Amino acid sequence: MPFTIAIDGPAASGKGTIARALASEFGFAHLDTGLLYRAVGAKGGDPVATAQGLEPEDLLRDDLRSAEAGQAASRVASIPEVRAALLAFQRKFARTEPGAVLDGRDIGTVICPEAEVKLYVVANYETRAARRAAELGADPAEMLAQIRERDARDAVRDVAPMKQADDAVLIDTSHLSIEEAVAKAVATVRTRL
Ligand code: C5P
Repeated sequence: MPFTIAIDGPAASGKGTIARALASEFGFAHLDTGLLYRAVGAKGGDPVATAQGLEPEDLLRDDLRSAEAGQAASRVASIPEVRAALLAFQRKFARTEPGAVLDGRDIGTVICPEAEVKLYVVANYETRAARRAAELGADPAEMLAQIRERDARDAVRDVAPMKQADDAVLIDTSHLSIEEAVAKAVATVRTRL
């Protein structure tokens, strides 16, 4: 039986870093599900048709990490048919042997409700804006505004809103180094292996 780790949380909370570290620590496959929504938003056209016809090479564009792609992703992510079109791929990925780590907004609640481990990774706004600004070489105040806008849209949408699953372990990375955050996540996984 494959082992699935579901990691959710808002933008720049540290969930991607934790997901990559866990995948490497346990030899599991990793899927950054935000990339799927970013690819749909960036490709343009009718979002539902784009999501239904998404190709692996669409995930390789080098502009997918930009703040604009993040905003476009969060807009298409509120369309139920877009989410439905991306569901089967994510569920199949979650069954990769010997295990898989998926990070996003609805992994523990919708995509993998049966995941062996669920983490919900958060951090305060100032920390997240500073991290994103350093990552993208952008202005922290502008990043703060964008992150707030994206969080609000992701949290209130009708379908698969960003939400902590009841059985998810909360990790607040605001005052943790990367090493400390990863150590917490690794320790949580080890208790379930
Ligand atoms: O995690 P990332 O910042 O790359 O996600 C971009 C956007 O994609 C999010 O703001 C959210 O709207 C959407 N998303 C989602 N469900 C996921 C992953 C991402 O709705 N599982």
